[in-house]
Amino acid sequence: MRHLSKSFAGLKAVDDVSLDLSVGEILGLIGPNGSGKTTLINVMTGLLEKSDGSVVIDGTEVTTFAPHKVARAGLARTFQTIRLFKNLSCIENVESGAVGVGTSRRRAARRAAELLDEVGLGDCASRAASSLTFGDQRRLEIARALATRPKFLLLDEPAAGLNEEETDVLLSFLRPLPMSKAIGILIVDHDMRLMMNLCDRLHVLNYGRTIAEGTPEAVRNDPQVVEAYLGSAVA
Ligand SMILES: Nc1ncnc2c1ncn2[C@@H]1O[C@H](COP(=O)(O)OP(=O)(O)OP(=O)(O)O)[C@@H](O)[C@H]1O
Ligand SMILES: [Mg+2]
Repeated sequence: MRHLSKSFAGLKAVDDVSLDLSVGEILGLIGPNGSGKTTLINVMTGLLEKSDGSVVIDGTEVTTFAPHKVARAGLARTFQTIRLFKNLSCIENVESGAVGVGTSRRRAARRAAELLDEVGLGDCASRAASSLTFGDQRRLEIARALATRPKFLLLDEPAAGLNEEETDVLLSFLRPLPMSKAIGILIVDHDMRLMMNLCDRLHVLNYGRTIAEGTPEAVRNDPQVVEAYLGSAVA
């Protein structure tokens, strides 16, 4: 991403942000409420039009692509508010991810069954998505994103609403993914314990602008970051 900006009627929600994400790593995107994290993901995935700048995946500029084309180019995502097909079964939800990028129904079904096992929901295949606990729904949504065979996975607050135990399940599930799936992960979350333990690097936004980037340790001690959080959340 180079010099990405997004304005809403004069409000610069994302202001000249550049970042790199590589296969094999987990990059954390943090910042106070309203600092532009979700907007940045929405622009990257084609849900919102950029005001300026570019997003390039493996040499292909996707900045003006519609969401389904961005998905085919290798960017998958989950949503801050869970967006599953509530009345469909778990396996149908995961299949929809694969079918959405042009996979045949047969292969999609096989891939979905494998992914459900991988996320620990193999026994729930035929249950309605809405019958799962919140934590399981979060992992189901990630399985659906993985069914698109992405190069990069963008997770918007996957730990929101999870208790400490469920967050630990999520942490141990996410940690090996970059290597096992050969993907890069960009994760947004306010749970600093999760972010500090999970991320290789952190990128910090405040009022849409980058105020720090580096290792979790360096970022935690950065005076501008401490100030942005008023010394609370990253302490
Ligand atoms: N569709 C929209 N129209 C107008 N303003 C918007 C729109 N979407 C977001 N904003 C504004 O852009 C700014 C950034 O919002 P955004 O949702 O990206 O923040 P965030 O970092 O994801 O916050 P949170 O941590 O609360 O999820 C906020 O001031 C928000 O009110
Ligand atoms: Mg958000």
